[in-house]
This record gives sequence, C-alpha cells and structure tokens, in this order.
Amino acid sequence: MDFAAFRALAPLCWRAPSAHNTQPWRLRYEPAAIRVGWDAAHTLPAADPTGRDLRLSLGAFVETCLIVAADADLHLKYVAEHDDRWVGWLRPTAHRYSTPFRAIDVWERRTDRGHFAAGPGPDVLAAVDRVARRAGGSVRVVPHAGRLGALLRTADRHLYADPAITAELRRWLRLDPAHPNYHVDGLTDRCLALSRPAAVGLRAALDAYPVLRPLGLPRLLAAADNPLARGGTVLALVAPDSLDPAGQIEFGRVLMRCWLTLHTAGLAAHPLSQLIDVAATRTALAALLDVAPDRLLHVVRVGLPTRPAPRSARRVAGGGPPATS
Ligand SMILES: Cc1cc2nc3c(=O)[nH]c(=O)nc-3n(C[C@H](O)[C@H](O)[C@H](O)COP(=O)(O)O)c2cc1C
Repeated sequence: MDFAAFRALAPLCWRAPSAHNTQPWRLRYEPAAIRVGWDAAHTLPAADPTGRDLRLSLGAFVETCLIVAADADLHLKYVAEHDDRWVGWLRPTAHRYSTPFRAIDVWERRTDRGHFAAGPGPDVLAAVDRVARRAGGSVRVVPHAGRLGALLRTADRHLYADPAITAELRRWLRLDPAHPNYHVDGLTDRCLALSRPAAVGLRAALDAYPVLRPLGLPRLLAAADNPLARGGTVLALVAPDSLDPAGQIEFGRVLMRCWLTLHTAGLAAHPLSQLIDVAATRTALAALLDVAPDRLLHVVRVGLPTRPAPRSARRVAGGGPPATS
C-alpha cells in the first residue's frame, strides 16, 4: 500500500476534534503498517486525569483517518493494540472502509459554540442513537428544563476553583491573535465566540488568578457564560457497562460518527464536558437520565447553527477542501 499517498492526507486527518484542541495523536510509519499513539505533552493531566477525553479524541482521530483514506480509495483498517503510548495500527486491507461519510464532511465539520436556531428533529435523534446502539451504547436527550443550567454553573465553578485545571486551560487558550500558536493548536478567542473585550477581560482575569481566586473569581467566571441560553438540545452519549480503555477508543470512533451524522444533517455540536468532569454534576446528570454515572461518556449541545463557526487551528495544516468526485 502507498503510505506516501496517505501521508499526503495528514492535514485532513488532523481535522479530527480533540479536547482543548491539543491534537494528542501521533503516527509512526513502519514498513507494513502505521502505528497510532499519543504524545504525553499534548494531554490534559489536570482536566482529564482518567484519560477519558484523550481516548475519545484518539478514537475520533482513528475514525477520521479511516474516512479520509476510504475517500481516497486507500484501503486501511484499524487494529487495536494497547501499549504504553500506542493504541493500535492502521493496516492495509483488501476492502475499502465502509462509511457513509466523505473527506469533505471531515473538512467542513466544526465545533460550534454559538447560537442555535433549533434543536435536532426526531429523525436525527434516532439516527445518532442508532449509531451509538450499534456499538452497545445510546444517545439520550438530557431534560433541559430545571436543573441543567445550575449544574453547568456548578461544574464551571468547580473547575475554575482548581488552580491546576485553570493553569492547564490557560496554557491551551489562544486569546490573542499574536499568540505564537494561534494557528497551531488550542482554543482561540474566535472559536470560543469571545468578543475582543471579552477575550481581553478573560486573559486579564486569568493573569490575576492567584490574587482573584480567593475573592470569588471562579464564581464570576462560571456565571459569565450560559451556553444553554444559545439554544439547542443537550444530548448525552451513554456507554455500555464497564467500558475499558480500548472500548473508550471505540466510542471515540462512535462519537466521530455521531458528530458527522449531525454535521451531514446540517447541525452542529458544542460539547459540555464539564458536566461529566465534576463528580457531583456527573452524578446529578446520571440521576436525571437514570443511568450509572460511569456510563456517561460525553455531553453535547446540538442544534442548527445561525452562522458558520470559525475553523479551529491545526498543527498539521495546509491544503484546502478535498477534491470531491
Ligand atoms: C472528547 C472531547 C471533549 C471536548 N470537550 C469540550 C468542552 O467541554 N467544551 C468545548 O467547548 N469544546 C469541547 N470539545 C471540542 C474541542 O475543543 C474541539 O474539538 C477542538 O477545539 C477542535 O475544534 P473543532 O471541533 O472545531 O475541529 C471537546 C472535544 C472532544 C473530542
């Protein structure tokens, strides 16, 4: 198989989503296969101590590679093989990977933290649920009314109160276009839908964090944003019981297929991972859905965008939209 042809598709593969846009994955080209792993420098030990989001991001990357390769008629399959810093292989195979998605979907999809005009209709909800059910999970609508807004504020306050998590977030924030990595990785002011004054204010607040934290900064920051007011429906990806790390990678692939299902239906996704990062809000959310807390894998606000979201940065950039045939 022509690995050089696959290598040329790297900018498309790199369009996969990752928590804080750290792009933790790495590829090692070996004579007979391509090894997939991650780089510890691009993980989130404070915000993601269990590695859940790391594994979801790696799974999303694997699925993206398979879709991009299939669209270029390169026949690759994924073979899981866990090891210290590696999760598996992309190996040549006889058949084209079977997927309804195209490289153009990978290229066009983006996280959208803006306003949504409407939530997903019943057909789309059924379609994403089907995607998850094929892997033994499900996608559930989180009841919006009542407690969810308060849970979000509690989760944000909890995370902002943790100096290590806040320092890590700060490391991946790109609030000023002059930041040397503004076009490389992390979360830009534009992607976070922050106005210039809001970006400057957040940067100043985080610079003064050690002084302002005891004076109530976490509460202020948590109250500053209410994504639920921007519309949409909140969905939860529910895993089967006792999902092991390899299973979480498989569910990263499921997550990618769910997001692309939404994207091809004209909808966008805005993850709200804080709800399951904090034990108390994860437990409360699980009670709302009547599932065991450790089965909650991902929470996301979904809806019909009112305008295109900005494109996020990538470490491996270049090219443009894929040629479609
Ligand atoms: C596992 C996972 C968790 C994420 N959690 C959040 C989140 O809590 N809040 C958020 O705004 N974005 C979240 N994101 C979205 C990423 O920040 C986004 O994928 C990344 O910045 C790249 O942007 P893109 O999706 O537009 O390509 C998450 C993404 C993944 C894959």
